[in-house]
Amino acid sequence: MESQKQSGPEPPIKVSTINCIDLSNPDIGESVALLKQACLDCGFFYVVNHGISQEFMDEVFAQSKKFFYLPLNEKLKVLRNEKHRGYTPMFDEFLDPDNQVHVGDYKEGYYIGVDVPENDPESEKPFNGPNVWPADGVLPGWRQTMEKFHHEALEVGKAVSRIIALALDLEVDFFDKPEVLGKPIATLRLLHYEDQFSDPAKGIYGAGAHSDFGFITLLATDDVMGLQICKDKDAKPQIWEYVTPIKGAFIVNLGDMLERWSNCMFKSTLHRVLGNGQDRYSIAYFVEPNHDCLVECLPTCKTEKSPPKFPQIRCSTYLSQRYKDTHANLSVYDKHQA
Ligand code: OGA
Ligand code: NI
Repeated sequence: MESQKQSGPEPPIKVSTINCIDLSNPDIGESVALLKQACLDCGFFYVVNHGISQEFMDEVFAQSKKFFYLPLNEKLKVLRNEKHRGYTPMFDEFLDPDNQVHVGDYKEGYYIGVDVPENDPESEKPFNGPNVWPADGVLPGWRQTMEKFHHEALEVGKAVSRIIALALDLEVDFFDKPEVLGKPIATLRLLHYEDQFSDPAKGIYGAGAHSDFGFITLLATDDVMGLQICKDKDAKPQIWEYVTPIKGAFIVNLGDMLERWSNCMFKSTLHRVLGNGQDRYSIAYFVEPNHDCLVECLPTCKTEKSPPKFPQIRCSTYLSQRYKDTHANLSVYDKHQA
């Protein structure tokens, strides 16, 4: 019998159904059960009623757009530095070198971290340092909006971390305590995807397939579809599903550090962004522990039959390596410096 060849367009990509956690739900047991199921199933869930108002979210998106509308020479004045603060131009990130053949991601971004002044000894640590900001006359109020969002999103991250702790049979404040999330490497990243059509066959993606590096990511998007997840990274062929944006919700996903921490009980999930010809804006907030936090197999995630799969690792060491592996070397921008 002749073997069946696949021809014609690929099958349509279906929309994933993922659980929704209501942070204002007084029945914490219900939230824990929903979150646990989501973490075991796909590592993605929505969070609603998180305390950040819709008006304020709209303002953050409006300010983000204003930045990306600036001419390139203005944006290059706040080019990303070695502390991962500032503007990342188109193609700066290369998330999936196996499948992205010629160029990196068709997106530009802007990193904002925890502000640590240069005269503070803590600023010696990787990821710590002062933020860089567009000049006030260029974008009035921009810095204040972003600082407020950074602050509020961290509170959402901590609230989610408490439910994750319960879902892993840990004390509710296992993650939300000074040694873990007291001085976190929390990073806000504004993103703009160019209005191009992605073409996996040609290795062209808005964002190449990847899993996030850290603990959890909170993602807010506009209403343009584009984000896809692959629930089983080992399946061949890989099956991708769209995640629909929900107005006002954060899409939360688990990172690789949590996968290590939980000994693969809670897996990080492969995801990517496909451009559909429209501009698309999103805002990612990466919640990562303190620099010196040691990520080692949680007491509730190991048994005699299932011993720890990974050695312990310091948070900042792990993250530094992952950023280095996925971002352009800063020297490629030397020619832009005046
Ligand atoms: C990311 C990411 C998805 C999106 O920044 O890690 O996966 O929709 N973003 O922008
Ligand atoms: Ni991601």
